[in-house]
Amino acid sequence: MIVTPLTKLLGIRVPVVQGGMQWVGVPQLAAAVSNAGGLGILTALTQPSTDALRQAIRETRKLTSKNFGVNITLLPSINPPDYEGYARAALEEGVRIFETAGNNPGPVVKLLKSHGCIVIHKCTTIRHAKAGERLGVDVLSIDGFECAGHPGEDDIGGLVLLARAAQELSVPYIASGGIADGRGLAAALALGAAGANMGTRFMCTVESPIHQSIKDRIVASTELDTVHIFRTLRNTARVYRNAVSKEVVALERRPGGAKFEELRDLVSGQRGRKVYELGDPDYGIWSAGISVGLIKDCPTCEELLINIEKEAEEVIDGLAKLRVRAKL
Ligand SMILES: Cc1cc2nc3c(=O)[nH]c(=O)nc-3n(C[C@H](O)[C@H](O)[C@H](O)COP(=O)(O)O)c2cc1C
Repeated sequence: MIVTPLTKLLGIRVPVVQGGMQWVGVPQLAAAVSNAGGLGILTALTQPSTDALRQAIRETRKLTSKNFGVNITLLPSINPPDYEGYARAALEEGVRIFETAGNNPGPVVKLLKSHGCIVIHKCTTIRHAKAGERLGVDVLSIDGFECAGHPGEDDIGGLVLLARAAQELSVPYIASGGIADGRGLAAALALGAAGANMGTRFMCTVESPIHQSIKDRIVASTELDTVHIFRTLRNTARVYRNAVSKEVVALERRPGGAKFEELRDLVSGQRGRKVYELGDPDYGIWSAGISVGLIKDCPTCEELLINIEKEAEEVIDGLAKLRVRAKL
């Protein structure tokens, strides 16, 4: 067993968190991850209303007696969702572990901390991590350049970002982005992290709610199969490389670039959602990290976490054997 400040704080067996995932972080997945010994997380905004989130929390509770969390993602939006309403609904349902991500998390973090919750705040820079520390978050989830979704604009890979976290942070942190196996978990621990956060890896599990064709596509992919969109809008997102994301990048690269309004239909969240329903990888934009190149199977969450734990332990033991004592 690997025991870290994360496993102790969250009461989990394996130091692995399943990060919030729009359209993917639903009760059956979150419960499966928690039952397998990690921390499963429901994605609040996948639910169309605060009442629907309440139902999702109740459903998850029926599927697991273990701890699970709720992700609240605060993204720039013309009509922002009722973030505080989602947080309050989860609080009233008894949830005490949250993952926050995105812009201006202060008010939501304050609310959650005033209710004694454990807050894991995900961010992509040391600057933002330090701001999170000042807000009183319990764990930082440090999302490197490799990650699916929003990597920020600084392009710092996990290796340096996590080593910088070790230098700068005083609260425990977990490594996020590009981790899909026990080797990655062991590397994260070596860099001072208390565990790992994974998104893409959990998309490709038996309990993930997405269409089997998309899981098969992930297995068939290499690390070259993702692309950054919205670079020119300074709202970069790493998504799967397909017909739609290539068109978005081409529009962004034409002379004069592209305004968001010109990309809106191509990148619509509803089209992305249909990818998972229809199993057509070219139907819309869908998030994926470069760890698609590491994913070669579609196990149950239990099989996955057993393998990750075993591999991480083997790597850690193997590293210890590299040390040769000098003869006196
Ligand atoms: C399909 C998908 C949807 C995601 N949606 C969200 C989201 O709504 N909110 C969020 O904070 N992170 C989201 N993420 C990011 C993950 O929580 C996690 O930080 C990221 O996937 C880590 O990188 P990895 O995919 O290389 O493991 C998403 C990731 C994926 C793969």
